[in-house]
Amino acid sequence: DHAPLVDQFQRRITYLRMSVTDRCDLRCAYCMPERMTFLPRKDVLSLEELHDLALGFIDRGITKIRLTGGEPLVRRDMMELVHALGRKVGDGLDELTLTTNGTRLAEFAEDLFAFGVRRINVSLDTLDRETFARLARRDSLPQVLEGLAAAKAAGLKVKLNTVALKGLNEDHIPEVVAWAHGQGFDSTLIEVMPLGEVEEDRFDHYLPLLAVREKLEQRWTLTPSEHRTGGPARYFDVAETGGRLGLITPLTNNFCEGCNRIRVTATGQLFACLGGNERVDLRAALRSADPDAALTEALDVAMKIKPARHHFAIDKPGAAPALPRHMSMTGG
Ligand code: GTP
Ligand code: 5AD
Ligand code: SF4
Repeated sequence: DHAPLVDQFQRRITYLRMSVTDRCDLRCAYCMPERMTFLPRKDVLSLEELHDLALGFIDRGITKIRLTGGEPLVRRDMMELVHALGRKVGDGLDELTLTTNGTRLAEFAEDLFAFGVRRINVSLDTLDRETFARLARRDSLPQVLEGLAAAKAAGLKVKLNTVALKGLNEDHIPEVVAWAHGQGFDSTLIEVMPLGEVEEDRFDHYLPLLAVREKLEQRWTLTPSEHRTGGPARYFDVAETGGRLGLITPLTNNFCEGCNRIRVTATGQLFACLGGNERVDLRAALRSADPDAALTEALDVAMKIKPARHHFAIDKPGAAPALPRHMSMTGG
């Protein structure tokens, strides 16, 4: 059965986000606690399993694979996976890409390009070293900037991801956007999502992007753009910088109607929605007597249970997160 993946709301699923590890070398305060508990290594899928799984998905019509984490480049055999899946670009896959925090990009950028990656997304919440160190709880801004320079030199297209945080990086957002555009990078702002317990109350730092947009419009002319990447961002052209600004608004402007995505954790749990608990166990399918049949069945189930939308809200102080799991589990 090579039937394409279509859910009960007739949404075609063509975009797979595959987390290769839940580990990370940073500790962004909105993402995970300083003392994070990671998955036992024995539960994580092997390189071969990740590869088989990806091929199974391509068979079912997935045309875009984004490798995520945690931080995907901390996984030891990550580049072997990129190399193997890179062979499918142009032969089933339109795009193989990743989302990274950039700390190890200097080492890997050239190989990523050589293996078929053309575009990457890099998280960068501020260009101020002290604020970075406070937010990511590691003093890694210099490495990230080196990584970005290496990515650019290698010919990779780059999109920066910036989570908008009141009182933390709010005042740095115009600088990040302007710098990105000056580098020839796209820039995307993201509303913080209530996933997993962290030390601080996300309510204290939640910033609706409409407020940010209005502020940016005091200095720049933003025109809605038709540009689409297959992800949740809606784009604007910025006349003054000549660059593109994406807004990802899971809280204030739900985009689930056009959802084309599913995500798989590093242990092979397929989550049908970032904002829900609907899931199927692909690791069990992979390790069963007839993996092909089991995978087909599991993916059919996933299409039946994918919910219409998520229901994130950050509307009162002290509330428990919508879901106990952190973003680093599903890679977004
Ligand atoms: P492009 O291919 O460039 O469009 O990338 P992308 O936006 O799909 O991926 P990226 O990893 O850069 O994710 C940017 C932000 O969008 C992250 O905070 C993700 O968690 C978030 N995101 C991606 N998919 C979904 C989704 O289905 N629902 C929600 N709520 N957020 C998502
Ligand atoms: N809410 C919104 N974005 C988050 N990210 C990590 N945790 C959260 C959260 N709780 C962002 C990272 C990265 C992207 C994959 O998700 O900054 O850019
Ligand atoms: Fe690591 Fe990304 Fe989470 Fe920051 S947001 S701790 S870089 S997984």
